[in-house]
Amino acid sequence: MSFIEIKDKRFSISIPKEKIQQEVTRVANEINHDLAGKNPLFISVLNGAFMFTSDLMKQITIPCEISFVKLASYQGLASTGTIKEILGVNEDITDRTLVIVEDIVDTGLTMQRLLESLGTRSPREIKIATLLLKPDKLQVDLKIDYMAMSIPNDFIVGYGLDYDGQGRNYPDIYTIVEE
Ligand code: IMP
Repeated sequence: MSFIEIKDKRFSISIPKEKIQQEVTRVANEINHDLAGKNPLFISVLNGAFMFTSDLMKQITIPCEISFVKLASYQGLASTGTIKEILGVNEDITDRTLVIVEDIVDTGLTMQRLLESLGTRSPREIKIATLLLKPDKLQVDLKIDYMAMSIPNDFIVGYGLDYDGQGRNYPDIYTIVEE
């Protein structure tokens, strides 16, 4: 499908699934290489990162563990600025290597908030793995350790990302068509 419609918006395909899979494989290989012997704890940020997390984890070949956090900051097309933690990390993270797995870093406020809250619990190190980055919207200074793709400022859906709750199910990524 080259176009999809969700509620009042139209989207056109911008990143086909083959390209996504190729970049996810590259990121998995980098992590397998860099974090071997560290038994990393992957922390997947729900809901948006569920598809990326699944494809990534299937290609992680080193001993590791996984947990999930659930945060919410977006409503419709824009970040609300307030980030709510709906589900937290219960594991003991003292002295652990953590890898936060995110769908997209936009303003970076969600990631900053998560880094702050996990940072108070004495992890050894925290790495960031994001599927997507919108570099022009970044408002905070973040070190992104692993990134599948960098994209322009436009609103996107698919591969886990939603518009008003819908569109997460598509295997490709679509960009909003401004009319
Ligand atoms: P940030 O706090 O501004 O970096 O926003 C991060 C969160 O906003 C991501 O985890 C996504 O859930 C959501 N988000 C940011 N950009 C988009 C987009 O283009 N489409 C759908 N969701 C987005």
